[in-house]
Amino acid sequence: MAVTAVVNQKGGVGKTTVVLGLAAAAAARGRRVLVVDLDPQANATTGLGVWNPGSTIDAALDTDRVGSVRSVIEPAGWPEGDGPVPHVAPSSPRLAQSEHQMATDLIGAQDRLATALDGVVADYDDVLIDCPPSLGLLTVNALFAADRVVIVAEPAAWSLDGVEQILRNVNRIAERRDGRPRVAGIIVSRLARTRDASYWHNQLTESHRDLVLVPAVRLRAAVTEAAAQSVPVGSLTRDGAAAAAAEFDALSRALDPDRVDPDPIVPARADADVSVDSPPALSTPGEP
Ligand SMILES: Nc1ncnc2c1ncn2[C@@H]1O[C@H](COP(=O)(O)OP(=O)(O)OP(=O)(O)O)[C@@H](O)[C@H]1O
Ligand SMILES: [Mg+2]
Repeated sequence: MAVTAVVNQKGGVGKTTVVLGLAAAAAARGRRVLVVDLDPQANATTGLGVWNPGSTIDAALDTDRVGSVRSVIEPAGWPEGDGPVPHVAPSSPRLAQSEHQMATDLIGAQDRLATALDGVVADYDDVLIDCPPSLGLLTVNALFAADRVVIVAEPAAWSLDGVEQILRNVNRIAERRDGRPRVAGIIVSRLARTRDASYWHNQLTESHRDLVLVPAVRLRAAVTEAAAQSVPVGSLTRDGAAAAAAEFDALSRALDPDRVDPDPIVPARADADVSVDSPPALSTPGEP
């Protein structure tokens, strides 16, 4: 199980799209996924097809109780696919008020989310936190709750400066938390087929060769359409949908190269030799 915060203080670079793409890719491989929407804009919530959530993450953070996120979680409204539907801890604009209120808390301002997720994350294979476009207290809470960070960067002027700023913040937190979170990688998003985009893509890759993940997520109309319809891009049949879903699948695997996916469900055979002793559980490489 890994808790991943998806960050960039710049707006509109593709954070939510990457969260939804990674969630869909992992769920299609049978993994149990929780998306924590930590952005008052609630784009991940609606992108997952949840329009009128019963309860939202601000309520969980306000109570400041261990495991309080569990009471707000609901299944995504996505159509049933091959794998389990991701779960979501939905957001609402009220989260902006919670952030102000948290800022007055001298003791628990930074780790409200870590407390609220305590014990809940064990129910999932992947927890993805969609962060707001700022390095404010909500993003700091995501970094305190995360094992690792994925930075989403657009191939555009100034994006390198933004990446450096995030790396500095993550390092400051990791120094206080025994090296957690670690930076798992940079996903280059919204990559257009222009000379300018490929210039900035190269700049990002040359500056952070060890961190930039492959492939980049290309700018495609299918991705915009999937967002507009609140469905995973892979469920669309239009041009580019399968290619976009394949990019997210490859990125999901690049983030966890050693992970073993849940066993496919093998239909029981009537003549199977049923032994009383179950075989020893396989250990998952890379897992604690
Ligand atoms: N690969 C892509 N191809 C086409 N459109 C994309 C792609 N990635 C993102 N978009 C579109 O770009 C816009 C911004 O993307 P998104 O909402 O994911 O960014 P964000 O970083 O989460 O924004 P914010 O900072 O406001 O939360 C959305 O309209 C989204 O549908
Ligand atoms: Mg977003």
